Amino acid sequence: MCGIVGYIGKNKANQILINGLLKLEYRGYDSAGIAVIEDKNIICKKDIGRVSNLYKLEGINDLTGTIGIAHTRWATHGKPSKINAHPHLDAFNTFAVVHNGIIENYNELKEDLISKGYKFYTQTDSEVIPNLISYYYKEEKDLLKAVNRACKDLKGSYAIEVISKEEPDKIVVARKDSPMVIGIADDEKFIASDIPAVLEYTKDFYLLADGQFVELTRDSIKFYDENLNEVENKIETIEWSETASSKCGYEDYMLKEIYEQPKAIRETIGSRLNENEKCQFDDIEIDKEYLKSITQIRIVACGTAMYAGLVAKNTFEKLLSINTEVEVASEFRYRDPLIDQRTLAIFVSQSGETADTIAALKLAKKKGCKTISISNVLGSSITREADYTIYTHAGPEIAVASTKAYTSQVVLLELLAIYFAEVLEKDSEEVKTLKRDILELPKKVEDTFKVADEIKELAKQIYEQKDVFFIGRGIDYTTTREAALKLKEISYIHADAYQAGELKHGPIALIENGITVIGIISDKKLLKKSVSNLQEVITRGANVVVVTDKNLSKYNFKKVIKVPETNRLISPILTVIPLQLLAYYVAKEKKLDVDKPRNLAKSVTVE
Ligand code: M6R
Repeated sequence: MCGIVGYIGKNKANQILINGLLKLEYRGYDSAGIAVIEDKNIICKKDIGRVSNLYKLEGINDLTGTIGIAHTRWATHGKPSKINAHPHLDAFNTFAVVHNGIIENYNELKEDLISKGYKFYTQTDSEVIPNLISYYYKEEKDLLKAVNRACKDLKGSYAIEVISKEEPDKIVVARKDSPMVIGIADDEKFIASDIPAVLEYTKDFYLLADGQFVELTRDSIKFYDENLNEVENKIETIEWSETASSKCGYEDYMLKEIYEQPKAIRETIGSRLNENEKCQFDDIEIDKEYLKSITQIRIVACGTAMYAGLVAKNTFEKLLSINTEVEVASEFRYRDPLIDQRTLAIFVSQSGETADTIAALKLAKKKGCKTISISNVLGSSITREADYTIYTHAGPEIAVASTKAYTSQVVLLELLAIYFAEVLEKDSEEVKTLKRDILELPKKVEDTFKVADEIKELAKQIYEQKDVFFIGRGIDYTTTREAALKLKEISYIHADAYQAGELKHGPIALIENGITVIGIISDKKLLKKSVSNLQEVITRGANVVVVTDKNLSKYNFKKVIKVPETNRLISPILTVIPLQLLAYYVAKEKKLDVDKPRNLAKSVTVE
């Protein structure tokens, strides 16, 4: 959480830093700030609120410094306020630091520094960092060494940028369990917590490894390990285009990303799946013998990524006959799960930086599991930990609410299940049909968008409601959970998802006149059961909306949203789309900031 940008070069830093922060606001948006070095002094400008507020700060547009650091915050320690905003300076205004992550032992460090004469002005954990650096600098007289010593005292996670008026032509960067990249162009270097922040300036990036330190001057860049031995790092060229991380005429990123789903799915399929050929995964080495030896598959993730796992569970079990369990990473990591070397553990994370998912992966490795990570971000932390990584290739997802990453994750997991089935020589008729149906998906997703106008109208009818229920059975229940999450997350309407058959065991007591219940029906076998459950809530006054790929005309539902029919196993990819659009249009009716919902950030890098 929080976004970091840094610049060192020949141009004025202020505009580059603010531009970068604007692209990173999805990481946090409660306060923002920049610090530049000008005439060997540190000039720091910061304020509460959105990044665009920075433009209003006196003198910010006139800064001429060509070295600077910047931050947009998602508060953890200390409420959002000007004083708690980054950059933070040490007590003597000599060092400025921006920090992502959490310093767990900041209280002890603070007390110790206070006893040494340091004064503190904020409620943040981050403020200990510039003060520690200041303390060690007295001895080391070298910025890199002082930062390194300070980091040795820190417990927790961090990605930091440091500037100092003692060494005004330098930026020092360090990271542990929090991402950081460095973009390179002629005579210029761009530092960022996420690639899209500086994609307009370069496509060539160094991805920093955990524990790495970097010293940047205008004409040099040196990488060090945690003991300050110089190490090599290689440049990766990023294929994302700049337009991939801009709105391209759409009002919001979320809408753009919803409409990018056909393309994202095509990219996810890529060359992995072709009709009449075996599914290909060049990036993993998993053979028949190993697959025959495993007793279970675990899919572990958070939020929407976890729901992608729940969809795929059906396919893994159906095609492989291997017990597949899906679990929330924040529970899994503290639960001492029953896993061992006969467990294949798959970790799904769009950002690849979700703290709980990474910790869960480390636990699975410790317990002897083979691990696969699924991520959308090249070189993200999770990909460095897992035995194998496969990428969704959905393109940058900027809106906090995940849409195209979700459907791409489902597709990728489906492909993986098919691949394993073929390795196991279980390539049944079912596998062949699923392959064909996946190849038809992008076109069917395009056809699904035809419901957009109907959904806009529906949003007008329900945006003032306090509660909305989503119900479904089997695989449709999974989609109800994702749909409820989307609605809650961006429209702030309380939404609950229930297995349709469970309603009678309690929640039906909440059904009263005028309440909206959205039913999803795509499973033919369960159709009649789901229809009965919907009739039961209609009888109790609910306004029922049905999202389905079946012909339900004989049941006389007042509102049916029809999506194209497809294979049951991948039907959630189509049934979720009207519900993504519904969440979007309800939030628009409520005039909310769709891309940056309150209290949230795109990457949850704290537990
Ligand atoms: O980056 P990740 O896929 O690991 O993120 C996991 C969740 O935080 C994320 O899916 C979250 O639930 C979305 N904001 C939901 O739209």
